Amino acid sequence: MPMTSLRKHRVVFFATGNTHKFNEARHVLAEYNVAVALLRVKALEIQDDNIENIAKTSVMEAVERCRLPIFVEDAGLFVDALNGFPGPYSSHVYRTIGTRGILKLMKEVEKRNACFRSVVAFCNSKESPKSFQGGVKGEISQEERGDQGFGFDPIFLPSDCPDETFAEMTIDKKNEYSHRAQALRKFAKWLKSDS
Ligand code: IMP
Repeated sequence: MPMTSLRKHRVVFFATGNTHKFNEARHVLAEYNVAVALLRVKALEIQDDNIENIAKTSVMEAVERCRLPIFVEDAGLFVDALNGFPGPYSSHVYRTIGTRGILKLMKEVEKRNACFRSVVAFCNSKESPKSFQGGVKGEISQEERGDQGFGFDPIFLPSDCPDETFAEMTIDKKNEYSHRAQALRKFAKWLKSDS
């Protein structure tokens, strides 16, 4: 099936085990009338210091196995005072030291600038993967706040709404600012650009 017809179908499969990510994506893509289905395949996560490489490699592997138009998303938290750590290692760092560990590392650090970056990579069985990037600047809070969202949401204050952590926002509010929503909007515009 040529790429143009795949684009017109406006149903894409999101390979992820993270239902928070899936719900964020569902809300953003609905703005563009693109339906998204959750594909619970365990996406391969290579170790690389570049999240774009990670996303592209894992989407190619998922498409190889499932033969569907699939996208994956890879993200990371980059803290300036920690020279970009945890960055591409965010998932491992979250599982090991967690948000409290990051707050400990940031104890007495005044400049708390950080950003989240996201890469959405889309692929079908015919073409090489296409990727879309998003990023949001902000600061690491002094303490955890909020009980929504996931991962480092309770300690991230986006610069454009600095009084609330991502974990204090609804999905739609987080989607106004987030790295993932930005990457997904670029993806949705590209999907629709041909129709
Ligand atoms: P992943 O490899 O894309 O799943 O993301 C790596 C880690 O970064 C996740 O385990 C989360 O801890 C963190 N992360 C990624 N995106 C977000 C987000 O939107 N909010 C909070 N934490 C995130």
